[in-house]
Amino acid sequence: MRRFSGKMSVAVLSAVALTAGTFTATAAHASGPLREHAEQRGIEIGVAINDGLLSNQQYASIAGSEFSQVTAENVMKWETLQPSQGQFNWGQADQIVDFAKQNNQRVYGHTLVWHSQTPGWVQGLGAGEMDTAMREHINAVLGRYGDDVEVWDVANEVIGDNAQLRNSFWLQTLGEDYIANAFEYARQADPDAELCLNDYSIDGINAKSDAYYQLAQDLLARGVPLTCMGFQAHLILGQVPSDMQQNLQRFADLGLDVYVTELDIRMDLNGGAPTQQQLAQQAEDYRSVVEACLGVERCKGLTTWGVHDASSWVPDQFPGQGAPLMWDDNYQQKPAYTAVHDTLAGD
Ligand code: XIL
Repeated sequence: MRRFSGKMSVAVLSAVALTAGTFTATAAHASGPLREHAEQRGIEIGVAINDGLLSNQQYASIAGSEFSQVTAENVMKWETLQPSQGQFNWGQADQIVDFAKQNNQRVYGHTLVWHSQTPGWVQGLGAGEMDTAMREHINAVLGRYGDDVEVWDVANEVIGDNAQLRNSFWLQTLGEDYIANAFEYARQADPDAELCLNDYSIDGINAKSDAYYQLAQDLLARGVPLTCMGFQAHLILGQVPSDMQQNLQRFADLGLDVYVTELDIRMDLNGGAPTQQQLAQQAEDYRSVVEACLGVERCKGLTTWGVHDASSWVPDQFPGQGAPLMWDDNYQQKPAYTAVHDTLAGD
């Protein structure tokens, strides 16, 4: 039903506009911000933001007006929130939460348990202490943000590129139950939050997403409070998996909500600017991802991993590649923006 509501309201608006002898209502509908159209489709449109960039007016204005949800790109990670044992640093995460409140946005919590961006003091603990540290960290973070954050990436990137459980310090010290325990601790700390697994290279059907499918089934069969699955979607130009919708759907069919959590679509730049052809392909790719989400009833949101190309993590992480977002280095909308906009608007 939800998927039709957007289309029905377009029809209703058109009818109203026609009877009133004006097309203003439909025109306004087609040109509004992304969040307006996403809301009509029953999904969140999200963006990862950096507290340090919110002082830039263009950045803050796009982040606040176009999106209905925000994720902290870095400052809700363990290394920022609890850099040394028992010492919490909430300031930057609070800024993100405050920004979201000012703009009437939902906050997507990222992330509680991860092998990366976790301080050395955690990694060096023995089993009993590490389990306690994990529980205390989850309690503290959910205790602080329980009212403000409705959905959490509880465990991030727990499966490796070899489709086996990632051989992280978590696995090595605690064994595979650390994943189930993280979810149990999160549920004890917050009875209502949505609790997700999240990873990259699982957007289509492949060995790694198969491994997640198995893991999700196992956790659910054991009564572990897993309620959602995050698909990061750090994608490469021209390589949106053709079975992305089918893949999201199989997880939804397990009873999980699904989210596209970190979408960006990078391209080879060879030191130059994107070509028109690359930008057109990127627009098509963005459209495909939005359609995959809209095609799945339980796809609850789609987040892009940054506001504009100049603030993306891609050039640092993948040398020679870049321009992966919907706004360019100068905050100009790219064809990808129009594609997302028009797809959400049903055009
Ligand atoms: C990245 C950030 O974008 C960078 O700024 C940071 O230096 C490293 O982490 N998967 C995740 C995200 O779950 O947290 C990562 O974010 C990107 C890959």
